[in-house]
Amino acid sequence: MKTLLFIAHTPSENTRLLATQAIASIQEYAPALRLVTKQPQEVQIEDGLACDGIMLGTIENIGYMSGMTKDMFDRCYNGWLDRQAGLPACIYIRAGLDGTATRQAINAIATGLKWRLVQPPIVLKGSFCDSFGDTLSEQAAGFAAGLEQGIF
Ligand SMILES: Cc1cc2nc3c(=O)[nH]c(=O)nc-3n(C[C@H](O)[C@H](O)[C@H](O)COP(=O)(O)O)c2cc1C
Repeated sequence: MKTLLFIAHTPSENTRLLATQAIASIQEYAPALRLVTKQPQEVQIEDGLACDGIMLGTIENIGYMSGMTKDMFDRCYNGWLDRQAGLPACIYIRAGLDGTATRQAINAIATGLKWRLVQPPIVLKGSFCDSFGDTLSEQAAGFAAGLEQGIF
């Protein structure tokens, strides 16, 4: 059985709703996956080494990924380096205004870790709206189903 590690920093009602929708979509479209959900501050090096794919959600605050997400990479990057090459990954960013700097930073980290992004990070930007959930649910379903079926 394959394991999907779902990591999301969810400090607000909207970000909690997004994570809930993504998780529901994963469970619906990939019921045979083992789904492990964690906040970034809970993630340890072993979690990233024990999974077959990572889905990561962060917010952008003050022009960068959330501090909790940065802290996770600070703690885990060296332990993951050269041990996650080719790991399928999927990223979303909730940004009130922009999201560009966070997308660039996470792309650079993913490149360093040799994660295989199955699609470019999606940025859910601007005033919160229902379509964010639809976009994210579709992304999560595609990623999870592909992982479950061995496509990624
Ligand atoms: C202190 C603070 C700084 C923020 N800085 C940024 C920023 O640099 N870029 C951006 O796109 N959004 C920024 N935001 C908006 C957050 O990304 C947004 O509030 C967060 O993703 C949660 O989404 P929500 O407000 O819909 O719950 C900031 C919000 C706060 C409170």
